[in-house]
Order: sequence, then C-alpha cells, then structure tokens
Amino acid sequence: MGDACSRLHVDSGMSAASPNGLASRIKALAKERNAVILAHNYERPEVQDAADYVGDSLGLSREAAKTSAEVIVFCGVHFMAETAAILSPNKTVLLPDLAAGCSLADTITADQLRAWKAEHPGAVVVSYVNTSAAVKAESDYCCTSGNAVEIVKSIPSDQEILFLPDIFLGAHVRRVTGRQDFHIWPGECHVHAGITPFSLARQREEHPGAELLVHPECGCATSVVEAMSAGAIPSEGVQVLSTEGMIRRPAESGKREFIVATETGILYRLRRANPDKTFYAASDRAECQYMKMTTLPKVLHSLEAMQHHITVPEDVAARARLALERMVAVGGSAPQQQLAGVAGFDPGE
Ligand code: 13P
Ligand code: SF4
Repeated sequence: MGDACSRLHVDSGMSAASPNGLASRIKALAKERNAVILAHNYERPEVQDAADYVGDSLGLSREAAKTSAEVIVFCGVHFMAETAAILSPNKTVLLPDLAAGCSLADTITADQLRAWKAEHPGAVVVSYVNTSAAVKAESDYCCTSGNAVEIVKSIPSDQEILFLPDIFLGAHVRRVTGRQDFHIWPGECHVHAGITPFSLARQREEHPGAELLVHPECGCATSVVEAMSAGAIPSEGVQVLSTEGMIRRPAESGKREFIVATETGILYRLRRANPDKTFYAASDRAECQYMKMTTLPKVLHSLEAMQHHITVPEDVAARARLALERMVAVGGSAPQQQLAGVAGFDPGE
C-alpha cells in the first residue's frame, strides 16, 4: 500500500508534501467539509493558488458574507477571520495560525476608543476594518482602503468624525473629502510605514517611466500626495489604490512598468495576471510576517483538526455587525474618482 502510494507520487511527479500534493489534499478535504478557502492578496503564492478566492479586505468580507459553504478557512490575519465570523455567525471560521495578528489593529483597544469617544461626545466613529471585534463594536461604521472615502462622504458634512486607527489612510481620506471636523488616531502598520518617501524616490529614479501604485496605508502616501498637491512632483502616473484596485490597474493602464508600494505578496498575482508587464517593489523589505505565517501544511492541518475556530461573543458581534454591514454595502459600483492632485483613486471592489 505504502509502496503503491510512493510509486503514484513518483509517477505523477507530485509528492504528498509538495505544494501541488498539499493543494490537492486541501481541495479534497475542503470539499468533504463543505469549506471555502479565502486568501488575502498578501498571502504566500502557494496559499493563493490553493484558495477559492483571493482578494482585498473588502472583497474577502463580501465573500465571507455570501458564501454557502459551512466552513470558511481564512488565510489572512486574525481580525479578518473575526470579521468573517461576525458576518457569517452560522458558519465555522477557521484561522490556520492563531498568531497571525496585525500591528495596525493592535494600536487601539476598545478601552482607548471609549476614552476617545468620551472626549468627543456625539462624534461618529469610522473604523478601518483592521481592528479587533471589540473596537468594531464601539464603532458606527467600518471601512476598508477600498471604500473609506465613500463611507466618509456618505456621512453629513458637518458631522464630527473620529477615524481610526491608520494615520496615513486617515490623512488621505481627510485630504480627499476635505472634511474639517475629522480626528485621526495615530496608528500605523509597521510594514506600510516602512515604505518611506526615500525608498520610493530611489525606485522612481531608477524606473522613471513606471506608473506608481500606492496603498493608502503607506508612510509614503501622505508625502507623495502632498507633494503632488503642492505641484512639487507631477501627479501623472500615481495611483492611490486598495490592493484589489492595484490588481485591476495594469490592464487599464497604457504603462508597461509599475512601482508597487505595498506588501510584496501582491507581486505574485500582479505578475501572473500581467506577464507582459514589469513590476518593482517600492521596498523589498515590505513583508508582513503575520500574513506569511499561513502555510499550506497549516491550511491542511486546519481542515483536518477543524482549528483554530474563531468566535466572537454574540453581544460584541451584534454591535460590530451593523458597522460591518455598512462597510460591505458601500462601494463597488462607483467609478474611479478623480481627486485633486491625484491621478487616480480606486474605490476598490
Ligand atoms: P486591503 O486589502 O484592504 O487593501 O488592505 C491591505 C492590508 O494591509 C490588509 O491588512
Ligand atoms: Fe496588518 Fe500591516 Fe500586516 Fe496588513 S500588512 S495585516 S495592516 S501588519
């Protein structure tokens, strides 16, 4: 039996532990368990290949909300699995590695948000989806990079807003919407904050004809957009995009080269979808160790052992759900918005 098995692996060139072998076992077990595998654009290439759906935070939330599968294996980070559990309370949501957290989500706790709200009674709270369920439960709206501008625009213009936790995305949204009474929590993602104006300038010098795709979480986004507004650098050839907006952009652009200012995991999908175009990382060091914790053996083990089951207490989930449902409902049909000083901003999914 064992011999027959190893012969089969040799003959097909596929061992049970090879990426293809693991992916086949994952697919078969997922079918048996009626499970769907969702993966973020930053996941490892082989994990993306094994997934049923790969996308940005907004797309994954929507997929989690509408799937008919009984089990969701979330190849992403903890807050994403929590979001899926809140949006699909009757499904079993599994996170292959419990340690897959998020430095940005960790910058604010529910207690800190309650204290901030007490300083601004009556303010509307808009939370980026990179937050814990407890923080979402204290929020009026959630948003992603794909629809943050649209969400804020949907709120009456004289309303005071508390935006959290990302300082760069917040600055971008404030600039684009022109909101006055808009307070921003000083949180940041260590990966995106590490993509500095300096690293970006170096890549632009080396590839002067390339279009620049910038994620609004980047430490460089603020200065790039500010420099464009001030006319210091040309706005042409700069796009501020969610990860899914970045995936769509090359097919729409006449450019052949792109500098990509976000986590480097996205390069795999970009290169596969556009073999005739060239992509450069704004910073080779922009790698999220949390996203990379998910490996194929862990995905397989997650399905075998039905681990790690992510749950959110119902009282917290009920309060967070409203804010999340607003997020999932906004964005998608809106056309690209032309912004002052920015060549393009894609509202995402
Ligand atoms: P999006 O996929 O929403 O663009 O967000 C990027 C991110 O950093 C997720 O952690
Ligand atoms: Fe969090 Fe940053 Fe990693 Fe995204 S890239 S999961 S924001 S630490």
